[in-house]
Amino acid sequence: MNKAVIPCGGLGTRFLPITKAVPKELLPVVDVPVISHIVDECVDSGLNEILIIISPHKEMIKEYFKRDDKLYDDLMRAGKTELAEQLRTALSKADIRFVTQYEPLGSAHAVSLAKDFTGDSAFCLALGDDLTVSDVPVAKQLVDAYEKVGTSVIGVQTCAGEDIVKYGVADVESTDGRYNLLKGIVEKPSLDALPSRLACYGRYILSDIYEYIDKICIGRGGEYQLTDALMLQCKHQKVYAYEFEGKRYDMGDKFGSLKADIELSLNRKDFGEPLKDYLKELVKSF
Ligand code: UTP
Repeated sequence: MNKAVIPCGGLGTRFLPITKAVPKELLPVVDVPVISHIVDECVDSGLNEILIIISPHKEMIKEYFKRDDKLYDDLMRAGKTELAEQLRTALSKADIRFVTQYEPLGSAHAVSLAKDFTGDSAFCLALGDDLTVSDVPVAKQLVDAYEKVGTSVIGVQTCAGEDIVKYGVADVESTDGRYNLLKGIVEKPSLDALPSRLACYGRYILSDIYEYIDKICIGRGGEYQLTDALMLQCKHQKVYAYEFEGKRYDMGDKFGSLKADIELSLNRKDFGEPLKDYLKELVKSF
């Protein structure tokens, strides 16, 4: 498997007002946009053919990934050779294509636009507003899981808090280590009706998904939901939830994005240590 699809066609209403002008996928973790981290995760997982689904208002994402010879020449002239080469190398790691979703008709609709790109092969779906950090990239963990089970795999993690109600939650038939065979998925369950504590977190390996997307109707929020297609797939085929290792941040959510900013910054070689000292001092003043 070498293909990944990154849907970025949503409205980003939770991150207004900035998303009125800037796609949330381009919001930076300090100096690197979220989408660039996700592309790196895919490339580091052996998925170097990437399709990014954008909306007509998100052409800026295309711009970001465009090779910029003028910038390269300007940096070279300014003696910033290393930076110029870094930017060029970063872009050459993946073959990135784009398709436009003209209306935000839902995650399943966005995925359906990837059909020509993926053909009948299984592919990784990495939501454009979910950032993961782990020793083995999360997409790679799921590719390996797929290679073991040969059917759709959904990345899940235990969510102990009340915000589990914001996610699709795994309804598990049986468990073998990190592998959970699914009965179904319950989208945004109420706290008193949780089928498990395993929340679906924005990383999937999808196999045979289009036949199920073709069969679903408009669902929650007036959109075609990927969860509905996966629920249908669970009824006809085996689908697994795989408990991946690592940390995941909801970058479509303001607090989630702030947490990623702080935590990833604390690990930076260039200013992680001074930031730690600064935060310690700051906390004392509260
Ligand atoms: P979300 O539901 O988190 O994104 O979809 P959203 O709709 O942009 O967010 P809010 O709720 O309005 O703040 C998860 C991913 O699927 C993409 C989004 O861009 C996001 O990366 N998506 C969603 C699409 O590509 N198309 C859609 O029609 C909906």
